[in-house]
Amino acid sequence: MRTMKAVCIYSYGGPGVLVYEDAPRPLPGDGEVLVRVHAAGVNPVDWKIREGHLKEMLHHTLPLVLGWDVSGVVEALGANTTRLSVGDEVFSRPDISRDGAYAEFIVIRESEVALKPKSIDHIHAAALPLAGLTAWQTLFDAGGLSAGQRVLIHAAAGGVGSLAVQLAKWKGAHVIGTASEHNHEFLRKLGADQVVDHNTERFEEVVQPVDVVLDTMGGDTQERSWKVLKPGGILVSVVSPPSAEAASAHGVRQAFVFIKPSAPQLAEIAKLADAEKLKAIVETILPLSDATRAQELSQRGHTRGKIVLRVA
Ligand SMILES: NC(=O)c1ccc[n+]([C@@H]2O[C@H](COP(=O)([O-])OP(=O)(O)OC[C@H]3O[C@@H](n4cnc5c(N)ncnc54)[C@H](OP(=O)(O)O)[C@@H]3O)[C@@H](O)[C@H]2O)c1
Repeated sequence: MRTMKAVCIYSYGGPGVLVYEDAPRPLPGDGEVLVRVHAAGVNPVDWKIREGHLKEMLHHTLPLVLGWDVSGVVEALGANTTRLSVGDEVFSRPDISRDGAYAEFIVIRESEVALKPKSIDHIHAAALPLAGLTAWQTLFDAGGLSAGQRVLIHAAAGGVGSLAVQLAKWKGAHVIGTASEHNHEFLRKLGADQVVDHNTERFEEVVQPVDVVLDTMGGDTQERSWKVLKPGGILVSVVSPPSAEAASAHGVRQAFVFIKPSAPQLAEIAKLADAEKLKAIVETILPLSDATRAQELSQRGHTRGKIVLRVA
């Protein structure tokens, strides 16, 4: 049996349950491709799954390889694959219910894989799929954001937020973001028209009504967000389902999004990256063997852009 280096969990718990070890190298099945991982993006969902918060929803079988953001090269094709060839440079946000990308190899359905942006390296490409699809599916699919509309993006300096700011700007929207003061200049350079310091200001007191709120925080931030929406506007959360009753009481709409893999949307994201309309922000690069440190950093909740694991 051929093996590979991988970071797995055998039980749910703190960062100490992550094990860097030799694991069996997977084989691609029908409609699947084997990808040699060059870089794996780190996302909050990784430590949430590690801690067991999503176990009722995802029913993983342990041991499980974590990490669902990948850039790499197609190593082998399973039967009935039609689009990709061995040697293609690809990126993906694979199915989160299966083994992930903190590993030297990952098997992914071909339908979840797109050619990576040509103009950026694997480290930066691995920062795009999960956060980019989240921004796309919340702002455009659920939120229906269009040119001339106003959008409030919470945690605008984070993985999702930093791409959402750029995508909303590309769409022609007026973009408002919340972030700590040290991130304000960074966000203005990404295209934010207004930045609110969530530590010292109450956004609902300083933001004029918006058409769309992207809620990446939940809790009190979500509750206070109803007040900034225009009549008929929409609150889209990726953290917790907003109350339908509260939405109706405020004369607005609500949606909860749990993102899905999408090769066509990844292809759009790659096009925008190559056209320099969308920049992957990578704050920290660590080796695969340092996945524990990467998750500890992610869990602090103050990453600017992304943390990425270098695998090859
Ligand atoms: N449902 C889904 O499909 C889905 C998909 C993707 C992500 N998510 C979830 O969405 C959330 C955000 O993900 P992410 O990858 O963007 O996280 P992230 O990169 O870890 O977010 C870090 C950012 O959060 C900001 N932040 C911290 N506290 C804040 C506050 N009170 N108000 C505003 N900003 C604050 C920090 O900015 P400062 O340092 O400037 O304070 C930092 O830049 C996570 O909970 C994640 O699990 C869900």
